[in-house]
Amino acid sequence: MKILVIGATGTIGKSIHEYLKEKKHTVYAAHRSSTTYPVDISDKNSINALFSQLPQLDAVINASGTAVWKHLSDLNEEDYMIGINSKLLGQINIVHTAEKYLKNKGAIVLTTGILGDHYEKNTVALSMVNGALHSFVNAASNEISKNITLNIVAPGAIQGNFPKDKKFADHYPVAIDDVVKIYEKAIHTSETGKILKIY
Ligand SMILES: NC(=O)c1ccc[n+]([C@@H]2O[C@H](COP(=O)([O-])OP(=O)(O)OC[C@H]3O[C@@H](n4cnc5c(N)ncnc54)[C@H](OP(=O)(O)O)[C@@H]3O)[C@@H](O)[C@H]2O)c1
Repeated sequence: MKILVIGATGTIGKSIHEYLKEKKHTVYAAHRSSTTYPVDISDKNSINALFSQLPQLDAVINASGTAVWKHLSDLNEEDYMIGINSKLLGQINIVHTAEKYLKNKGAIVLTTGILGDHYEKNTVALSMVNGALHSFVNAASNEISKNITLNIVAPGAIQGNFPKDKKFADHYPVAIDDVVKIYEKAIHTSETGKILKIY
């Protein structure tokens, strides 16, 4: 398969990239500071420029996007807008662009996380974005064309980033190898509109 991985040098994206390459897929590794496939998901023109230079893809996985970590009492509108423009609208714009460029029956896989469902201190802005993406995919997966599947992987905290024996959002961290297998499942499944939770 020809697969685009956005955020391909990050904790999650790097492991996805390496795993899919081992499985003999053709993987295009994109992120902001890439010299080969630069992209900033908070800029829809940049997303369009990336897809337009690639051959027609079977799948795109996004493992990038940020939001501000602050207590509710410290969050202002600008803080919220960072998450909205990056992790929320960035992934929504990936869906709109990918719909145009992917093959029939292609797969789009987005990333949210445990904070869509579970509370952790100082993560209000991330929880908001994750919840919005879950609702977006629930609805948009019914209307996307070309029989493209649209799913989300929602991991818990990744072991290594967080100590294995310390809970995050009331759950123990998860192993990256297990998380990567969920992304693999998401590019092959015929199911759509699913939030694939691993925590
Ligand atoms: N790590 C965890 O424990 C965890 C758990 C659950 C969910 N998540 C979610 O998973 C996603 C990835 O997390 P991560 O920890 O793997 O991130 P990370 O280690 O910070 O890596 C982020 C990756 O995305 C790229 N990137 C950042 N901003 C970008 C942008 N605007 N446009 C395009 N590429 C961009 C980075 O490269 P450049 O800097 O070169 O762009 C890098 O390749 C995030 O949405 C995070 O909330 C993470």
